[in-house]
Amino acid sequence: MLIYFVKRTYATAQSMFRRSPSVVVMMLTIILLLSACSMGEEVKRIQAVNEMERERAQSQSTDLTGEQVFIRSCNTCHPRGKLGVGPALDQLSEHFATDEMLKRFIRMGKGVMPGNPKETLNDVELDNLVKYLRALPKP
Ligand code: HEC
Repeated sequence: MLIYFVKRTYATAQSMFRRSPSVVVMMLTIILLLSACSMGEEVKRIQAVNEMERERAQSQSTDLTGEQVFIRSCNTCHPRGKLGVGPALDQLSEHFATDEMLKRFIRMGKGVMPGNPKETLNDVELDNLVKYLRALPKP
């Protein structure tokens, strides 16, 4: 029964193509166009979902401010940016010409000073921290 149906459909398609190839081509084009449209819809839907996810993540973000990061991770050794176990942080512009250099130093650490990997200090928090450090009052 099924085989008969398939054979019939095939035969019909064949005779249609023999009689008017352009109709078949047109039908194929229409089918292609329709599926392309629905793919566009699908892409839009995925984009909307991604956007929503991003907004939700942002609204739930626990990014710390520069000051909060500093108190948590730096203040023990650089009390309020002054001399402690670590040096005073009042010569940053002399020692770190660019924010990128300062960020690399903070990520890597040096000697006694521990590094700060992304797991404990995300990129936003590092940005905030660098802004805070750059704004520390000079003696
Ligand atoms: C365990 C103590 C300790 C902690 C915690 C610490 N530091 Fe340090 N830091 C040091 C020491 C010691 C040095 C000197 C390193 C060297 O030159 O060998 C230093 C050097 C620095 C320097 C270079 C200063 C300069 O002018 O050359 C910067 C900038 C700095 N620390 C920032 C930070 C920041 C930001 C944090 C927090 C994320 C932090 N440190 C946490 C001990 C610490």
